Amino acid sequence: MQIEKTHLAVFSPTGTTEQVLRAIAPYFPSLSHEIDLCDYQSREQMHRFGKNDLLIVGVPVYGGRVPIPARERLERFFGNGTPAILAAVYGNREYEDALLELKNLLETRGFRAVAAGAFLAEHSIVRSIAAGRPDAADLQKINAFAEQASNKIEGIDDISKEPELFVKGNFPYREFKGDPFDPHGFKSCTGCGICAAKCPTGAISKQAPWKIDKNRCISCMRCVKVCPNGARNLSPVKYASIRKMLESKCKGRKEPEFFF
Ligand SMILES: Cc1cc2nc3c(=O)[nH]c(=O)nc-3n(C[C@H](O)[C@H](O)[C@H](O)COP(=O)(O)O)c2cc1C
Repeated sequence: MQIEKTHLAVFSPTGTTEQVLRAIAPYFPSLSHEIDLCDYQSREQMHRFGKNDLLIVGVPVYGGRVPIPARERLERFFGNGTPAILAAVYGNREYEDALLELKNLLETRGFRAVAAGAFLAEHSIVRSIAAGRPDAADLQKINAFAEQASNKIEGIDDISKEPELFVKGNFPYREFKGDPFDPHGFKSCTGCGICAAKCPTGAISKQAPWKIDKNRCISCMRCVKVCPNGARNLSPVKYASIRKMLESKCKGRKEPEFFF
């Protein structure tokens, strides 16, 4: 089939999911539209796609699931037999049901998943886990994935006749109620408001950015990463216990998995 336009949609609070998608995108024609699913201001925007569009979509894995705001924003996407390439990016624990959830979500919205991958990246909460990933070896695999997906799409005559894509995961999905880590500003916070402007859920007030709305915060760690003064983080006691717990669960190097 002929792709006329390629669209990228990514929810990437700390940038690694975006890194993976940007390595995939050059294998496809006419990248014409990028949708930042982290942008709180445009969270209610609807997006419509046609038969000759291609959607490349990526989300990080949170508790083995698609992050709730990403899911809510993707529920405003409308496909029309539109082919989609899916990426779930995780921090070397497990991806569990996230890729299946992403596939089911998009397929109920009129897309057809043609290729999917679970990719590795540094853990955004404890960045020493899978540090530096995606690395050179990952990028080689990502390129091979993109090339194979591109060849597959080229060879499709009628997408409605394609067999359903199998991806790993279970339904009903595992339960994930969120991680209540609530990163907040320390004394060195200058109140510049960068974190408030970048927060994907509007959980940080521009007037008092050192505070956090615990009901909206998804602990995505974006505020910690973007703070120019390193003035935002979890409380040291909380961080130490999360680190210990995650280090015991994220042992050994995991490798990307692909589905065609
Ligand atoms: C709230 C939260 C939950 C997470 N849950 C998982 C998980 O279940 N499994 C895993 O391997 N990594 C998990 N991670 C790590 C992220 O999936 C991983 O670091 C990802 O690369 C972050 O993507 P980003 O850089 O695009 O934000 C979690 C991270 C956060 C912030």
